[in-house]
Amino acid sequence: MAKTFLKSVVDFTKNVKTTGALYQTSKQIEKEICSKIDENTKVVVEFGTGLGNITQRILDNLPADGKLYSFEVKAEFLEDVKELIQDERLVLINDGAQNFDKYVKEEIDCFISSIPVTLIPKEVVMSALKKSYTALKSGNYFCQVLYSPFHKKKFSAVFDKVEIKTAASVPLGFIHHCLKK
Ligand SMILES: C[S@@+](CC[C@H](N)C(=O)[O-])C[C@H]1O[C@@H](n2cnc3c(N)ncnc32)[C@H](O)[C@@H]1O
Repeated sequence: MAKTFLKSVVDFTKNVKTTGALYQTSKQIEKEICSKIDENTKVVVEFGTGLGNITQRILDNLPADGKLYSFEVKAEFLEDVKELIQDERLVLINDGAQNFDKYVKEEIDCFISSIPVTLIPKEVVMSALKKSYTALKSGNYFCQVLYSPFHKKKFSAVFDKVEIKTAASVPLGFIHHCLKK
């Protein structure tokens, strides 16, 4: 466990311009961001696999016949995740969130995103959010963790309702639960 934590700190620090963080997200963030996934969830798309901590939590909440597509731009992170998580429901994709629609053709029950939206060009983020809204089933959620509550506008410009929940971590995590009515 200590070795995994140390490795995540080293990997995230080396890649901080892409990861936007020094550490993996906390257990409290994992729990809150996955809170919309239940026995009725069939297809989940994750943006920003990292070293797979949220990925594992999604799989823990997902039914046996569910499917998780997880997108990550850093190929070396995915190599680690392939070793750490062996689960037939998981499809790892080495590409950006903005290209998810090239790979996922089903309707999506939930998006879980931890990509650093404040470091990615705004037009790329907005395009990914609009495509996510289109692919999301009505009544369902796009969930994004941020470390600031001041970017709600980006999400409320696309989704019908945005609720922010805080989760203990250093710094404090703000989980944006974005609803498509
Ligand atoms: C803050 S880290 C979160 C990683 C992990 N999910 C966690 O919660 O600890 C953000 C991750 O998003 C990845 N990333 C950055 N831009 C991306 C993009 N456009 N599409 C997919 N992943 C991206 C980074 O390489 C990094 O692994």
